[in-house]
Amino acid sequence: MAKIKVGIVGGTGYTGVELLRLLSQHPNAELAAITSRKEDGMPVADMYTNLRGKVDLAFSSPDKARLTECDVVFFATPHGVAMAQAQELLAAGVKIIDLAADFRLQDLASFEKWYKMPHACPDVLRESVYGLVELNREKIRGARVVGNPGCYPTTVLLGLAPLLEGRAGASPLVDASTLIADCKSGVTGAGRKAELHILFSEASDNFKAYGVSGHRHHPEIVEHLQTLHGGPVGLTFVPHLTPMVRGMHSTIYARIDPKARDVDFQKLFEQRYADEPFVDVMPVGSTPETRSVRASNMIRIAVHRPGNGDQLVVLVVQDNLVKGASGQAVQNMNLMFGLPEDAGLGQVAVLP
Ligand SMILES: NC(=O)c1ccc[n+]([C@@H]2O[C@H](COP(=O)([O-])OP(=O)(O)OC[C@H]3O[C@@H](n4cnc5c(N)ncnc54)[C@H](OP(=O)(O)O)[C@@H]3O)[C@@H](O)[C@H]2O)c1
Repeated sequence: MAKIKVGIVGGTGYTGVELLRLLSQHPNAELAAITSRKEDGMPVADMYTNLRGKVDLAFSSPDKARLTECDVVFFATPHGVAMAQAQELLAAGVKIIDLAADFRLQDLASFEKWYKMPHACPDVLRESVYGLVELNREKIRGARVVGNPGCYPTTVLLGLAPLLEGRAGASPLVDASTLIADCKSGVTGAGRKAELHILFSEASDNFKAYGVSGHRHHPEIVEHLQTLHGGPVGLTFVPHLTPMVRGMHSTIYARIDPKARDVDFQKLFEQRYADEPFVDVMPVGSTPETRSVRASNMIRIAVHRPGNGDQLVVLVVQDNLVKGASGQAVQNMNLMFGLPEDAGLGQVAVLP
């Protein structure tokens, strides 16, 4: 079988280099084009020395990259870039996986409010699929355009899906109106750029919340929670910046419905994710660590019920750059091209 010709727009960013790392080890993918406007002509391995001997391409400006000759193009760019090029690529038969937010929200008003720009191609948005594989596997197989989920949304949606799926109105397990997601991200979540709040002397040896009164990932999480639930959902979402390079830890609180007191929540999670290659429901009493998923596409979940009371606490860890971004994007590519879902994604986490 011929290899899939892959283009990456935004190859110098953190999700871009993570795509390069994963795709350079992928048995069915051939890197054909990698763009950067600032580093046009620079060999990739000169910037990212971990790729020496693995990637022999140079960055090229997007206009020279011949993206229409690829089978799939990943956009590892800020929002607004993928939607500006989507129609031209689709017309040339190229599939699209956007790591930004252009194809994550079906609610156009919400997109425009949070991303401060009109959507360039609502028709393409309507046919696109939200690329959270564990929820949308079959739709992704047939998709031409995938909106790869945000990092926080991946942890919160997978942490809540077993509790809410299809349960609006009928035998609720938890109170869907008072959900809380208390989430922490490593600094690479902010991208590779020079900004004051992510300087070493600002972000290291420090811990703080941000976006408490509103964050772009909140509407994304709520839209997809409501879809899977089949009814309204109330969520308080508080992200934090934590002094790690990569990694994400989400602590999710859900109030157990009085009629669901006798449910075995550990078993519920184990059964829901039994066949998922990248979701590990850990044994009772576990406290998953971010380093247990570092550089791998795994997400690990632990379910707690302190004092056997009515508060459920779900702990979720992932690598924000892998399952939270580029690994999940490769998982989507595998499905879109009929490959084994785990092709090129067998990396074991780096520990310690
Ligand atoms: N970091 C994470 O943990 C994470 C997780 C999930 C999703 N995401 C999303 O993934 C996307 C990329 O994130 P990142 O952290 O990798 O960003 P980043 O480190 O800031 O890199 C952005 C990349 O996009 C390129 N770029 C910027 N503006 C462009 C334009 N107008 N046209 C073409 N290329 C452009 C940049 O290169 P040049 O300027 O040289 O062209 C650079 O290579 C973002 O939308 C982000 O929200 C990030």
